Amino acid sequence: MTIKTVTTAPYTDQKPGTSGLRKKVPVFQQQNYAENFIQAIFDSLEGFEGETLVIGGDGRYYNREVIQLAIKMAAANGFGRVLVGRGGILSTPAASNVIRKNRAFGGIVLSASHNPGGPTEDFGIKYNIGNGGPAPEKITDAIFARTKTIDSYKIADVEDVNLDLEGTHEIAGMTVNVIDPVADYAELMEQLFDFEAISDLLAGGFRIVFDAMSAVTGPYAKEILENRLGAAKGSVLNFMPLPDFGGHHPDPNLVHARALYETMMADDAPDFGAASDGDGDRNLIIGRGIFVTPSDSLALLAANAHLAPGYAQGLAGIARSMPTSGAADRVAEKLGIGLYETPTGWKFFGNLLDAGLATICGEESAGTGSNHVREKDGLWAVLLWLNILAVRKESVLDIVKQHWASFGRNYYSRHDYEEVDSEAANGLMANLRDQLATLPGKRFGALTVETADDFAYNDPVDQSVSRNQGIRILFEGGSRVVFRLSGTGTSGATLRVYIERYEPDAARHDIDTQEALADLIAVADEIASIKARTGRQEPSVIT
Ligand code: G1P
Ligand code: ZN
Repeated sequence: MTIKTVTTAPYTDQKPGTSGLRKKVPVFQQQNYAENFIQAIFDSLEGFEGETLVIGGDGRYYNREVIQLAIKMAAANGFGRVLVGRGGILSTPAASNVIRKNRAFGGIVLSASHNPGGPTEDFGIKYNIGNGGPAPEKITDAIFARTKTIDSYKIADVEDVNLDLEGTHEIAGMTVNVIDPVADYAELMEQLFDFEAISDLLAGGFRIVFDAMSAVTGPYAKEILENRLGAAKGSVLNFMPLPDFGGHHPDPNLVHARALYETMMADDAPDFGAASDGDGDRNLIIGRGIFVTPSDSLALLAANAHLAPGYAQGLAGIARSMPTSGAADRVAEKLGIGLYETPTGWKFFGNLLDAGLATICGEESAGTGSNHVREKDGLWAVLLWLNILAVRKESVLDIVKQHWASFGRNYYSRHDYEEVDSEAANGLMANLRDQLATLPGKRFGALTVETADDFAYNDPVDQSVSRNQGIRILFEGGSRVVFRLSGTGTSGATLRVYIERYEPDAARHDIDTQEALADLIAVADEIASIKARTGRQEPSVIT
């Protein structure tokens, strides 16, 4: 018999966060660690006998090893077929598409998103359900519960599958299809966007640069932007996925994509610059001379989506995570469609998309997407932008300025305090919670607190309630400060402070962002005692 049952013992730390289980590689390399978690996933599911499982990852260090384990364990647990990307590669949105297109039972996506990769860096395992989206809390809670009691796992005792050979393999009675990781995704993009219009734009001398950050979007961007749309060869930078992302953080923000930012601010800058993250679900959009904040990008994409064939019928609604700025709310209001405010994490959009309540979703953390898959999608955002630019024939800068002029500008910034002592961070949040009742009506200089609460979400589709999703302090006039702790960090705690100020007056739309927010930043520290409690004089990252 080729199926082995291996005795194991629980690990205590396998609680999946908003994006699955994230740990350092050496943690995953402990005996039975990855096996336990994968078996706990399978033990928490029902009815997958003979069904299809999709497996793929962002190519980071340890990807191939865990893919082999997952394939052998899927066979031993009774799946009928595995679809795996060639080389073990599938971007997160591409994996979501493969799951949906093939009506798979679910998928295992291996990634730690924008976190660094390498022998001592980050790795992650996430389970996606049949709609192509991240597993809801009900399932991740069941997985966590199972990791605490697990005593054995099943694995097929067979040779490794050749992941580099596209085609059909058989192992232990299960079929393994090694598929082209790019083809299905590129086809989906061709259905949504006007490739002809974008090709014409590019042929007319419109210059673009896309930084794949040595991560998973390289092969996707090369194929779509250069081969299919005709962008100049060399438009896609760092297109080879590397196990350690070339030693960089594959996080498309102003800190880690600094070189792209500088290219786009130069006199001879290309017309359009963009980047994506480790697993291809985030995006950074920079026009010549202007960085578009993710919150603004969501609002702009929603306001202009009808210009792309896939959204010509208009949008059903817009969803944004709570800390994302209110810019999209004003667009929804003008379009007369629903606006849904959800907790941080893409999984909360799934129900809204499945129920047809929302068409476009976004998070301030550079995640934007739509109902075409159930993950955020970096290249999708890039292509929608290009489609809009091809139709409007105006610069990014002009489009953004016009948007602010008609809707007002939401100045926005996020201050992160990384690797803060966990106790200090929890203390800071507890202290904020204790103050909530006393804040409304309080004045801080020219700012008066209107409301203060700990955000709770009532899912309109399944009526589930998620509490303690972040402290919101709303000031009169639409300014806001939000505090929450990251759920994706792998060491210590990360405090995120989100600061936003609404400015309706177009004459005041050219102020430097940190300057425009200075009084709110000071008030945030006054209320939360950030400096005193964390011992940090300034944030580690400002975006
Ligand atoms: C971060 C982002 C969040 C995003 C998640 C996964 O989570 O803030 O918007 O959904 O990464 O990409 P956090 O670390 O804040 O919990
Ligand atoms: Zn990501």
